[in-house]
Amino acid sequence: PESCSQIPEAWRFDCYPERGVVVTAEMCHARNCCFIQNSQAKTSGWNGVPWCFYTPEYPSYELVSITDTEIGKVGKLLRNKKTYYPKDIDALQLEVLYEDNRLHVKITDPAEKRYEVPIDVPVVPKTASSNPSYTVDFIKEPFGLIVKRTQTGTVLLNTSIAPLFYADQFLQMSTSLPSRFIYGLGEHRSNFLHDLQWNTLTMWARDVPPMELTNLYGVHPFYLSMESDGMAHGFFMLNSNAMDVALQPAPALTWRMIGGILDFYVFLGPDPSSVIAQYLDVVGKPAMPIYWALGYHLCRWGYKSSDKTWNVVKEMRNYGIPQDVQWNDIDYMDSALDFTYDTMNFSTLPDLVKDLHKHDQHYVMILDPGISNSLPSGSYWPFDEGKKRGIFINDSNGDILTGKVWPGLTAFPDFSNPDTHEWWYQNLKSFHEKVPFDGVWIDMNEPSNFFDGSLNGCPENELENPPYTPGILGGTLKAKTVCASARQKISTHYNIHSLYGLMEAKATESALRKITDKRPFVISRSTFPSQGKYSGHWLGDNRSQWKDLATSIPGMLTFNILGIPLIGADICGFGGSTTEELCVRWTQLGAFYPFSRNHNSIDEQDQEPTAFSPAARIAMKEVILLRYSLFPHLYTLFHHAHISGHTVHLMPELYIYIYIYIYIYIYIYTCVRTYNNSFVSSGGEEHFQQIIYTHILYIKYIYIIIPNTTLWVSSGQPLNLIVSLSEDGLAKGDLYWDDGETLDTYEKDQYAYIYFTVEQNTMTSEVLHNHEEAAYITVETVSFYGVKVEPENVTVNSQEAAFTYHDNQVLTVTDLGLNLSRNFTINWM
Ligand code: GLC
Repeated sequence: PESCSQIPEAWRFDCYPERGVVVTAEMCHARNCCFIQNSQAKTSGWNGVPWCFYTPEYPSYELVSITDTEIGKVGKLLRNKKTYYPKDIDALQLEVLYEDNRLHVKITDPAEKRYEVPIDVPVVPKTASSNPSYTVDFIKEPFGLIVKRTQTGTVLLNTSIAPLFYADQFLQMSTSLPSRFIYGLGEHRSNFLHDLQWNTLTMWARDVPPMELTNLYGVHPFYLSMESDGMAHGFFMLNSNAMDVALQPAPALTWRMIGGILDFYVFLGPDPSSVIAQYLDVVGKPAMPIYWALGYHLCRWGYKSSDKTWNVVKEMRNYGIPQDVQWNDIDYMDSALDFTYDTMNFSTLPDLVKDLHKHDQHYVMILDPGISNSLPSGSYWPFDEGKKRGIFINDSNGDILTGKVWPGLTAFPDFSNPDTHEWWYQNLKSFHEKVPFDGVWIDMNEPSNFFDGSLNGCPENELENPPYTPGILGGTLKAKTVCASARQKISTHYNIHSLYGLMEAKATESALRKITDKRPFVISRSTFPSQGKYSGHWLGDNRSQWKDLATSIPGMLTFNILGIPLIGADICGFGGSTTEELCVRWTQLGAFYPFSRNHNSIDEQDQEPTAFSPAARIAMKEVILLRYSLFPHLYTLFHHAHISGHTVHLMPELYIYIYIYIYIYIYIYTCVRTYNNSFVSSGGEEHFQQIIYTHILYIKYIYIIIPNTTLWVSSGQPLNLIVSLSEDGLAKGDLYWDDGETLDTYEKDQYAYIYFTVEQNTMTSEVLHNHEEAAYITVETVSFYGVKVEPENVTVNSQEAAFTYHDNQVLTVTDLGLNLSRNFTINWM
């Protein structure tokens, strides 16, 4: 019809999203949609203007009733015309919950309970605010919701722009976006800012070396959007089924999921950090890491023996390069079997771990979920016992599903079953008695399978071949994982596939709590919302290339938005061989990753800092020492992430402007280096001036602890404070300090919290919460950057004190010997 051509290209919503199909007019008209061939575009809307798109009259649901509840509204939606996908659910229940600072909407099938994501979200009994920051308009026919920001009138959500689908295996909802600035939506390799030019992001956990435009290890259906006036809001689709998120230049976004329910949140911000905190109020805030998690970690695939591994540690010690944690990849295992170690090549592993502990260092080893199923009965407890307890994933006939991973044929533990957690714990506990590891790296947990589906393939059924398959790498749900129709305790794999890593992390975290009675250290490859409560993440199998160094930065930023601040990328690159220059530069960047690990693949050139020329080695050592000197600051940032849902960046406010962020690394590095070397070279001064004058507002307090080669928190190293004053001479900052490893120190009041302020030439250090750990720390010097006039006199607690002043406006008060656990003031005149 005429009306079709009147729809601007950017506003055409794809009526034929199936991949790899060349849509014809006939096919399109069979769906009652508009067909306009677009010569410039590809065949369908996932990467170009769709040829086949909805008419404005395309049938959708009608809102037939709506009534008030204690916390919002309930309504009834009816569809009276079928869509082109089977099993439309004609009658739906709409539940709108006006929660404080966020809107929560659930659309369910009142006749039959459908699968819902098993993560705990807050249940709010009553509307909290009588003056909400948003309004919701209901459009009756075709049904739509319009959410506006009260203060500005900005439309944050408008689902009336395209028809709503709610079939058994196809749920689709579109919304307009108030701007082109969309962040989040992991896990993908992309710019931090997503491209809205017909860009479809697919989500389904997948083992594949990161590349653009493909689904990767984790699934995070959450975005943060910056509105044109600088306000920010967020949106979370609580759904774990395979999905596409189609972005188009209108700007608009379409959610296309193949199961579950429509369950979503809008977070009102209004600034980006509040959006993230509000999102984490729903899914859970990240765990406070054990202190050594923030140290430097060394790992590789291909340390062929424990002695080889030990030598690396010894070399690091010989050169005085900081290292807190040594890791082993699958090499340590006997024939790649979990919970075993190779007693030939790794015979000294228990001794290595003891030696690490003697040096205040720690040990982490890998575990993969695949459990070998083909050893003689009675010879491998993990499988025998697991089989007896019925804890493995079954195929659709109810037999244990056989896949293939490193040890050969394997069964996969079903972590949706609480019995599996107990079995996993027992395995970890008995292995810990042999090798007293400190943390666990859980890999291959998408779960990765070298077969597509299983040894016997997968049956032909509607779960394996859904009416619509999102743009998954490999084209099928079973590609390099287990069958979608495989059976797990709480649901079919079809529904809970992308939760595998989360559930394994949960089991591992709780096992470690019991075994070590300390804060668990878990790093997981596959992740889902709420994962930050249980583990950190690394960006997977990157390559030793400059591009991979660069893409690690958006990766770091995105995972912070997603509430997993303990995030890193393999420093110097995993696949392929690094070069000395790349590895030095990458170490200089990676020293500022929240989680800093150098990891290498098998058969590649060595890339530990000790493997390079003296100049390279020294550069790496220097920057790792710098990281260590910033530890109290990093630790305090993690505390704020843990209690308030903040992000962890050395410059927290800057995460939205990515280019500045990169420079900030360099600035801060130059700044602190300048400070440490106590001279300013001309190049250094240039950078330094930029910090002072361009970004002064962003630098508050940085705590420099004199670095050691491990982060042993109670080592009593003195603290040197750096204070950057704003143009008008103000600064503030804080410091969280505890013993670094005890569980729930904040929750149990076992911490110190100190607040610093500077105004009118006076710095005040106020102990807001005291604890003996702070008494071990001495503040030795304080440097104030941006003191414009040379002081004549400096006093500390009203007593005259020694100081230096440099022309670059740095006042340093020395020989302080102040106890961090006592209040103090420093004044200059
Ligand atoms: C996977 C991991 C990688 C690890 C390798 C061997 O590829 O992502 O980090 O080294 O398996 O275990």
